[in-house]
Amino acid sequence: MTSRASVVLVFGGRSSEHEISCLTASGVARTIDTDAFEVHPVGISRDGTWHRISLAQLQQLRARGRELPTVPADAEPVVLISKGDRVVLAGLVGGHLTDEVDIDVAMTMLHGPYGEDGTVQGQFEMLGIPYVGSGVAASAVGMDKHLMKVVLEASGLPVGPHEVIRDLDWVSDSEGCCERIVVALEFPLFVKPARGGSSLGISKVVAADQLPRAIEKARVHDPKVLVEQGFVGAREIECAVLGPLPGTITPRTSPCGEIVVNSQDGFYDFDAKYRPAANQVDLQVPARIPDSVSDTVRQLAARSFDVLGCEGLARVDTFVTASGEVFVNEVNTMPGFTELSMYPSLWQAAGMDYRDLITDLITQGLSRPNTAVR
Ligand SMILES: Nc1ncnc2c1ncn2[C@@H]1O[C@H](COP(=O)(O)OP(=O)(O)O)[C@@H](O)[C@H]1O
Ligand SMILES: [Mg+2]
Repeated sequence: MTSRASVVLVFGGRSSEHEISCLTASGVARTIDTDAFEVHPVGISRDGTWHRISLAQLQQLRARGRELPTVPADAEPVVLISKGDRVVLAGLVGGHLTDEVDIDVAMTMLHGPYGEDGTVQGQFEMLGIPYVGSGVAASAVGMDKHLMKVVLEASGLPVGPHEVIRDLDWVSDSEGCCERIVVALEFPLFVKPARGGSSLGISKVVAADQLPRAIEKARVHDPKVLVEQGFVGAREIECAVLGPLPGTITPRTSPCGEIVVNSQDGFYDFDAKYRPAANQVDLQVPARIPDSVSDTVRQLAARSFDVLGCEGLARVDTFVTASGEVFVNEVNTMPGFTELSMYPSLWQAAGMDYRDLITDLITQGLSRPNTAVR
C-alpha cells in the first residue's frame, strides 16, 4: 500500500461564519477519500484556540434543529509547529509536545476574516507547509471588496461604478462623503463593509436620506466602506474556477450557475444565504443563459483568477445586464463548500463529483511551491 498524504483540515474559526465552516468541514470529512488521505481535523474555537478533533467527531457535527454546530471547546488544544524539515501537529502538555503527527498539507474550510483573508495562509507560509488555495496576497485582496475592484479595474476587467469611503473621509466630513456619492452614482446603491463576509452589514439604499445610516451600519464591520451603484434587472451569474492541471497554465472554469433571488426587492443577504427558510433563493445549475454569455463569464472568471493571482480555487460572481453585458461583482477565494453549495454543484455539472473535487484541491495543494515569494 502506498502511504497516504497527511492532511490537516482546519475549520471553525473566529469569523461570523464559524458554524457554516463546521457544517462544511463535516461534509468534507464524510466525503474525503480516506484511502488517499489521512485526515487530521483541527477546529479553531471562537477565541482562536486550535483543538484536535477526531475524524469521527467531525463527521458527526451536524445542525440540531435550528442550532448550528460549533467547535467543541473542551477538545484537546493543539499546535501546528515546524520541527526541522517537518511540520507536526501536536498536543502541548507541561511545555512538551505530545502525540505528534507529521503533516504534509493544510486544507482550510474557513470563511471570512482570519481564514479567507491571508492571515492563516501567512501562518502556513511561516511554517513552510504547503496548503490548498490562494496565497497571502490574493487572499487578502480577494477579501477586500475595494482592493479587489482596484486590481480588476487596473487589469481592464469590467466592474461596476463604485466609491470608497475611508475612515478619515467619514470622520472629517460625512456630509461631503454623501454629496460625493450622490453626484457620482445613481440609486439604488449597495453599501458594504470593504472587508466583511457573508453579507453582514450590507444595505440597499434607494434614497439619499438613507445613506448615512447605511454607511454607519457598514462601519460597524469595517472602517472602510464601499458604495456601489446597483445593477437593476441584472442576473447574478457565477462561475467556479480551479487552478490549472499539472503541466498547463490555464485555470479551469465550470459551466455557469445562477442565483435567483425570489423575494421582491431583496438581495442575496445573510438570511437568504444561511437561513433560507422562506425559499428566498434558488441556485440554477447550469444557468439558463445563451452560450455566448456563458463563454464571456467563463473567460472573465479565468482572467479574474489570473490577475488576482489566485491559486487552487475561487468562485467568480458576475452581474449580467439585460443587454448581455457582464461585470465582475466579486471573487471568493474560499467559496461556500458544502456539497449543495454553488461551487461544488458547478463542478458536479461539469462531471466532477464532490469527492473528486476535494482530491483535486488537495493534490494541487501538495504540489504548491513552498515560499511566499515566487
Ligand atoms: N452593485 C450591486 N447591484 C445589485 N445587487 C448587488 C450589488 N452588490 C451586491 N448586490 C446584492 O447583494 C448580494 C451580496 O453582495 P456581495 O457583494 O456579493 O457580498 P458578499 O460578500 O456578502 O456575498 C449580492 O449577491 C447581490 O444580490
Ligand atoms: Mg457575494
